[in-house]
Amino acid sequence: MTAAPTFACLPKAELHLHIEGTFEPELIFKIAQRNNIAIPFESVEALRGAYQFEDLQSFLYLYYQAMNVLQKEEDFYELCSAYLQRAQANGVVHVEIFFDPQAHTSRGVHFDTVVNGLYKAVKESKEKYGITSKLIMCFLRDLSAESAMDTLKLAEKHGEKIIAVGLDSAEVGNPPSKFKKVFEAALAQGLLTVAHAGEEGPPDYVWEALNDLKVSRVDHGVRSMEDPALVTHLAEHRIPLTVCPLSNVKLRVFPDLKSHNLKHMLDCDLMATVNSDDPAYFGGYVADNLEQVAQALNLSRDEQVRLAKNSIEASFLSHAEKAAYLAQIDNFCKALS
Ligand code: ADE
Ligand code: ZN
Repeated sequence: MTAAPTFACLPKAELHLHIEGTFEPELIFKIAQRNNIAIPFESVEALRGAYQFEDLQSFLYLYYQAMNVLQKEEDFYELCSAYLQRAQANGVVHVEIFFDPQAHTSRGVHFDTVVNGLYKAVKESKEKYGITSKLIMCFLRDLSAESAMDTLKLAEKHGEKIIAVGLDSAEVGNPPSKFKKVFEAALAQGLLTVAHAGEEGPPDYVWEALNDLKVSRVDHGVRSMEDPALVTHLAEHRIPLTVCPLSNVKLRVFPDLKSHNLKHMLDCDLMATVNSDDPAYFGGYVADNLEQVAQALNLSRDEQVRLAKNSIEASFLSHAEKAAYLAQIDNFCKALS
């Protein structure tokens, strides 16, 4: 049986995207030179050649190293603009962008420099690229809850520039419950919540993200499939999972795309979406993720359209905005059939 034609360029939302993970080697070198910062790689090729990872931790080591060259507001603006341009070519019509402020403030870059640089690109994304966009501030879970609370306080004056808080970095040993109070404070401040859970960590971490952090979505969540009661709960409550297939293979959560459990998730009626996570490091942007996983798992056209519609429904857009984007997907499909 031949695979169904892929619908990789369907209009879609990207809901799991670390802006620092879109930092392509060419841009790393350009900004390093501009800021007069030495990097421990001789060339773009040598840096790209180092992108072989054994697990999440081995990736994070390189990821945090590369972002050291980001110093000024214009650097963050350029990084975000470069991503938006690529996203447009991938059929992205809406994106909710993660950023890691503590990875910058810990090296002396001011919180406002990061937010203002990113927000400048977000503000012009609709006009320049036809993409609506929002910012989600992630806390680094391997740092303390106190550090996360301090970071939340820094965000307060930025008001509506930030729509939600998230939780990322080294998962195992840093359960969501560690951040219960911080997330309560964020919710009280009017922010929405999401969290990485069940990427390398056990299903219990997904339960904690739901119960302690009141998340609207679970980032990754692939290990949820090990717990039948959790699968039932996620399906019944239509809790979205932001799945990142190429990331999961690159970080060895699955040995290859054919072993990925995305199809099983859809079969269990889960509200799965497909995303790129850190596309500069993992070998593909969101359309590549969709195309490759659809081929590997033999996803039907209907399943691919469902993934795109899920991404819009799982977003933090208004009902009216969602309706408009869902109609855009239907029109895209009609034009193809
Ligand atoms: N930070 C950037 N990418 C990440 C991932 N896949 N998991 C956890 N933290 C991250
Ligand atoms: Zn991630």
